[in-house]
Amino acid sequence: MRIDVVSIFPGFFDVLEVSLLGKARAAGILDVRVHDLRDFTTDRHRTVDDTPYGGGAGMVMKPEPWGLALDAIATDASHDGGAEASRSVFLFPSPAGEVFRQATARDLSHADHLVFGCGRYEGIDERVFAHAATLGDVRLMSLGDYVLNGGEVAAMAMIEAIGRLIPGVVGNPESLVEESHEDGLLEYPSYTKPSEWRGLGVPPVLLSGNHGAIAAWRHDQQVERTRARRPDLLAD
Ligand code: ADE
Repeated sequence: MRIDVVSIFPGFFDVLEVSLLGKARAAGILDVRVHDLRDFTTDRHRTVDDTPYGGGAGMVMKPEPWGLALDAIATDASHDGGAEASRSVFLFPSPAGEVFRQATARDLSHADHLVFGCGRYEGIDERVFAHAATLGDVRLMSLGDYVLNGGEVAAMAMIEAIGRLIPGVVGNPESLVEESHEDGLLEYPSYTKPSEWRGLGVPPVLLSGNHGAIAAWRHDQQVERTRARRPDLLAD
């Protein structure tokens, strides 16, 4: 999978060098390219924002640098993919977007090319999304009902959630199956050795060797936890 990221803070994405995603990049499974939006400005001050039409607080990101950046990425990716080039998906992190879920991550993990456009300030000029829609699919994505200073942290979270679902990124694919949200429930509690720690034991069923009983206990724990912490998931 190829992932392009456009941001005025490309250094945010240096952490993609480390951990499992770093290994996946080194192994050629993930091709991540980070672009500085200011490289697509044409004025001496490398301006990326301006005051909002209609007034109001804050600044809005100007459309011109975004247009040039997205055009350059789309052209480059179409050469990359040759005649087989598939549609690119343009993802704009935004608190005004649809909520990013595990199902979204799984869906996007099948794409060949993702482009993350990280906005700052009060957001990106709305026409940029219309232009991006001429280059591929466009989705505005929210991590949840809270506001971050910009799209970078949200893009990082999404890249990790999507990247780890690509075959070969996580060593043991079985570890992806029994996770929170994969079956609509929260994950069951886990324990490891020692069996007694600071006066706290391990649920006896886990030491019983009875696999049927263990599976039933784990499922009960999943339902119980989900009911207590995330009743909205059970309603769904
Ligand atoms: N940018 C600012 N807040 C955000 C959020 N909650 N999700 C995604 N992108 C954002």
